[in-house]
Amino acid sequence: MDAKKIVLVGMPGSGKSTLGRSLAAKLNWPFYDLDDLIEAKAEKAISEIFSSAGEGYFRKLETSVLEEILDKKETFVLATGGGAPCYNENMALINKKGVSVYLDVPLNNILERLTNTQVAIRPLFSSLDTPEIILKLKDMHSQRNAFYEKAKIKLRGEDSSPELLIANWLPLLE
Ligand code: S3P
Repeated sequence: MDAKKIVLVGMPGSGKSTLGRSLAAKLNWPFYDLDDLIEAKAEKAISEIFSSAGEGYFRKLETSVLEEILDKKETFVLATGGGAPCYNENMALINKKGVSVYLDVPLNNILERLTNTQVAIRPLFSSLDTPEIILKLKDMHSQRNAFYEKAKIKLRGEDSSPELLIANWLPLLE
């Protein structure tokens, strides 16, 4: 079998990393989290990259780390950051190199998941109160959904158990 890459995309807090990790464990494939790879390369937390160098710098770094991982001749599951498919030509690249999966979770559920700790590590939300977070999520979703919708596979939150995914995906990966 050639190297296969499953790339999870979707809003922040949609559960890409959690799902990706358990899916990779069940498939016995390596798992990568793009944000972790960015932090390792920059030797800084995402929040520090945003505060010291700004979002523009973060987006360039994000694209170069994405290109690097997608170039590997390796099978893996990759969870991307919520903005990754929406900048540069990243979504086209993801679709060229891997099987993209949009984890489509209702905004209400995302809001429930974004606990205080999770907000603190996400610089795009960290200075906002709850009503502002709701507005920001709605705005982000309306700007980003068109990119996410370019994914080859779309999963509703309730269909996103690793078992269901494996049953539905493996034939596509042959
Ligand atoms: C971002 C989402 C984050 C992280 C960065 C920017 C975004 O990842 O990449 O804070 O633009 O939506 P998660 O989707 O894991 O929160």
